[in-house]
Amino acid sequence: MIPITPAATEPDQAMQHDIQHYMRPGTLQLTALPPLSLYIHLPWCLKKCPYCDFNSHEMRAAELPEQRYLDALMADLEASLPLIWGRTVHSIFIGGGTPSLFSPESIDWLLSGIRARLKLEPNCEITLEANPGTFEKDRFKAFRSAGVTRLSVGVQSFNDDYLKTLGRVHDRAQALAAVQEAAQAFDTFNLDIMYALPGQTLADLKQDMATALALAPTHISIYQLTIEPNTYFAKFPPVMPEDDTAYEMLDLVTDMTAAAGLYRYEVSAYARDGHRCVHNLNYWQFGDYLGLGAGAHSKLSFAHRVMRQVRFREPRLYMEQALAGHCVAQDEEVGRADLPFEFMLNALRLKDGFALKQFGERTGLPITAIQKALDEAERKGLIERDFSRVKPSVRGYDFLNDLQALFLPPHP
Ligand SMILES: C[S@@+](CC[C@H](N)C(=O)[O-])C[C@H]1O[C@@H](n2cnc3c(N)ncnc32)[C@H](O)[C@@H]1O
Ligand code: SF4
Repeated sequence: MIPITPAATEPDQAMQHDIQHYMRPGTLQLTALPPLSLYIHLPWCLKKCPYCDFNSHEMRAAELPEQRYLDALMADLEASLPLIWGRTVHSIFIGGGTPSLFSPESIDWLLSGIRARLKLEPNCEITLEANPGTFEKDRFKAFRSAGVTRLSVGVQSFNDDYLKTLGRVHDRAQALAAVQEAAQAFDTFNLDIMYALPGQTLADLKQDMATALALAPTHISIYQLTIEPNTYFAKFPPVMPEDDTAYEMLDLVTDMTAAAGLYRYEVSAYARDGHRCVHNLNYWQFGDYLGLGAGAHSKLSFAHRVMRQVRFREPRLYMEQALAGHCVAQDEEVGRADLPFEFMLNALRLKDGFALKQFGERTGLPITAIQKALDEAERKGLIERDFSRVKPSVRGYDFLNDLQALFLPPHP
């Protein structure tokens, strides 16, 4: 990426450009703007998990500053409107942190405020992330009434021992009760599960997956536990399963989900027909998204450039800045040379790959920009293609990093 303005670290350096700045001439030619999604970050959790490097903050004894944060989000949206003028929103994702800590009344207020300011697609998917605590579960139906159409439940495991290892505040019984409640309140819902947990055996995972699938979720997101820098686990690393075991676990997950009618449509995402996540698909298809809230990321296209923005990360600073009308901490243009890799990094995660036409539409570049790398990927047996589409081969999916690396920009 080419920083066109240095990253701001101090509030008074916060960035604000008027729309002319984004619309000025440039070397890219985007013939159409991609679908637009909205991401909203609610950054608080009851307790910080030892593996988590997301922008999530323990509530401690303090009350949630719910209304002040909502006011900040609305001010953030108002200030961002000129950048997305006239565009329709295809999906909304309220993520965290633990968004289910916010009351249904707050979520209703938030969604009403968004509807009053933006045009939503008639069947706009609206996802909310929820944790399986007891009081959160009792709110699920009210979230549905507030307009949420899809619930994503952060189960992680149904095994009490592993939930404890992961530092989660819920137990197996609460996880089961939460998923049953989600199934009653929502036609479409997701379970977040993690595997390759410290001490986990194949048999343990098999049991976890069997429990998850018996609850008939329409979608499951399954992530291998990774040790992220600056987390408690990075400082005090637990003993993790061997790589070979982790591969076997992934095979087990893929077989069990397929047998239950869930198709692996993305590296970590499995869905029944008609239940793929519209919001995440838009990320993987290099669509646009406006991210509101502390530390939220945005990707926005204009006729001659693709921009990325990041909001202030620390919730209190974010609220202060958003209410003062400038909460964008970083604002940079994606360099022309970086666009092919950024597009491919996302699109190759999809089992069905991408349409060649979409590459041109989303990057503003001619297909010749990736022709050489595509030829090499094909020679190595990492992709399959016809005149209109490219998709990773089975081998390409197994060696996805190697495949994606073929599209890295040349060294200067
Ligand atoms: C950041 S959380 C937000 C939702 C909710 N707070 C929760 O914990 O379920 C989103 C998901 O990311 C996954 N995740 C977070 N940290 C991870 C890690 N270090 N390795 C693998 N998956 C991780 C978990 O599955 C989690 O459900
Ligand atoms: S509950 Fe979710 S967002 Fe919060 S610390 Fe744990 S993994 Fe991170």
